[in-house]
Amino acid sequence: MTGLNGSGSVATPTLSDREFRSIAGFMYDETGIVLTEAKRAMVVSRLSRRLRDLDLQDFTTYCDLLQSRWGADERTRMISSLTTNVTHFFRESGHFDDLRDNVFPRLLEQAQAGRRVRLWSAGCSTGQEVYSLGVALLALCPTAADLDIRILGTDIDPEVIRTARAGTYTKTQLAQLPDQGRVFFRDSRDTPMMQDAGAELRRLVAFRVLNLLHDWPVKGPFDVIMCRNVTIYFDRETQQRLWHRFGQLMQDGARLYVGHSEYRVEDAGSQFVPGSAGVFIRSSDVTKPSVSSVAATSIGGAL
Ligand SMILES: C[S@@+](CC[C@H](N)C(=O)[O-])C[C@H]1O[C@@H](n2cnc3c(N)ncnc32)[C@H](O)[C@@H]1O
Repeated sequence: MTGLNGSGSVATPTLSDREFRSIAGFMYDETGIVLTEAKRAMVVSRLSRRLRDLDLQDFTTYCDLLQSRWGADERTRMISSLTTNVTHFFRESGHFDDLRDNVFPRLLEQAQAGRRVRLWSAGCSTGQEVYSLGVALLALCPTAADLDIRILGTDIDPEVIRTARAGTYTKTQLAQLPDQGRVFFRDSRDTPMMQDAGAELRRLVAFRVLNLLHDWPVKGPFDVIMCRNVTIYFDRETQQRLWHRFGQLMQDGARLYVGHSEYRVEDAGSQFVPGSAGVFIRSSDVTKPSVSSVAATSIGGAL
């Protein structure tokens, strides 16, 4: 129940065990995220705001709404409230160094020869990862947007996809870009003190709402997939299924980048061999060649 407590401030509503289990069960089934008991205070705090916005008195009524046929909108909003959207430009910069040194020169050369090149940021949040890939490509090849190169950004949360599509960031956020990357953003016409992704970047990127647990209406093969800091709260089985599905959309030599807290890709059958930290190279060679021989083949092929 909500209401005024003794001190006159609004009391936090109570979440019963049954209600917590029901919310955690829904989140697991729908998103793959495991909400352990340790997350209970976070759930109460974030969803109390939803109760206030909806003018609901308690979690019992809220859970009834979630389960009702009128609850679809709120189910989406609850997912937005309970997912973590923290991101920034050039996060885990070692991955972008790997792309610049070992991957993009080869892909750009192939795109210039007419090949289709596709990159996917799966779980892109507000878009910084996608624009970082675009900036890294444009820094190497200013005409990249004229080639058949596209970067797809997807996320389960429609709110973050709206922000990503808008492509408008504060100057503080853009300060995370290397100097030569900021030239691809322009002062925003609509929002003072902010900057918009420029035309070249916009031509390279596309954003969609997509739940990684559902069907993927995407067309592979992908040369690069980034799925970083997304599966941290997934269980091992869900992670393995995901790595396997990514592998099915990649050809040999393509690279999967995962966040530092989520390496378990090498367990996913024989589809990947590990490269440098958080980098996995698609390989159909079941004997799994050593990392050094794979890296040498791939770098040699690039240059
Ligand atoms: C912490 S952000 C990571 C953003 C970016 N990849 C990075 O590393 O900076 C995690 C994102 O994963 C998304 N996410 C969580 N579960 C998902 C699922 N089942 N399908 C698609 N996206 C999901 C969340 O909405 C959130 O925006």
